[in-house]
Amino acid sequence: MKNKELRKTAKALMAGDKGLLAMDESTETCNKRFIAAGIPTTIEYRRAYRELIVTTPDLGKCLSGAILFDETIYQATKDGVLFIDILKDAGIIPGIKVDEGTVDLANFPGEKVTLGLDNLRARLTKYYELGARFAKWRAVIKIDKGIPTRGSIETNMQDLARYAALCQEAGIVPIVEPEVLMDGDHSIKKCFKVTEKVLHTLFKQLALQRVDLRGLILKPNMVLPGNESEKQVSVDKVAKATVTCLLKTVPATVPGIAFLSGGQSPELATAHLNAMHVKYDKKMPWALTFSFSRAIQQPALDIWKGKDENVKAAQKLLFERASLDNIARRGKYTTDMEKEVTAS
Ligand code: 13P
Repeated sequence: MKNKELRKTAKALMAGDKGLLAMDESTETCNKRFIAAGIPTTIEYRRAYRELIVTTPDLGKCLSGAILFDETIYQATKDGVLFIDILKDAGIIPGIKVDEGTVDLANFPGEKVTLGLDNLRARLTKYYELGARFAKWRAVIKIDKGIPTRGSIETNMQDLARYAALCQEAGIVPIVEPEVLMDGDHSIKKCFKVTEKVLHTLFKQLALQRVDLRGLILKPNMVLPGNESEKQVSVDKVAKATVTCLLKTVPATVPGIAFLSGGQSPELATAHLNAMHVKYDKKMPWALTFSFSRAIQQPALDIWKGKDENVKAAQKLLFERASLDNIARRGKYTTDMEKEVTAS
């Protein structure tokens, strides 16, 4: 029964040309983005910003799901309507970030491990009661001299698999997010190798923990050169490397893959997703969509600036950005469409 429910939710999350919005920044991360945009870092500003997002007109036309942060799942609009109810009314499935951030991994200098497994079973039960039907856990893998090590990859992937098993037990679809970071000057080839190893290890661990692959969604990085690499590559090359890596590692039973944007510009993240659909639609056994945070939110956040009079303009940008990602999912995006967004 539970497995049936999980598969139904996973399928709904990947439906049509829709995708997911990650609006689950921790307080620390949200404050960091607010400081950069000159917005006060108070709980009320964070609430107002999330109200701006969830009340964006027609958001349900672009999104199948939205990932919330613990603070946000209890919050409501100024008029007292819970965000989670607004999402549900718009046909958007509410999700919840359940990892508790990363800390240094003992004995592995420069590498991290994600916290949050303790008490996770109880927290998942509570989130299910509140209405969340999927969850997210992010593991972070950094590329640098001598890292990532096998020890850190195994540890992080085992934790992701244990999280996924607990989610499924609670009737919640796990989004498993092993993020190979863009930071650094490594080549696309190096990113390919590391992503391949990480995904191989992840699926081995998911099998060991008896996770039902039909009831989960993978949230990977795209295969890219490091952001400080002198050898940046074409959109088509990123699409090819990413799809090849996923075809080598992700079983066909996985219903869907939803990318993180990882610090790419909104335009590039959209163009990469589009190129994958243009060239490889027939080769891919899983649905392929977006689960962006910055690549959808950043333009809207920049224009909002914490001011009521900018809410409508910010919502328009948010909707347009997500709509372009829908178009990319259909393989019909062109860079000319960006001009129309900027002009309107
Ligand atoms: P970005 O799209 O900004 O990388 O965020 C996605 C996410 O959910 C990170 O956990």
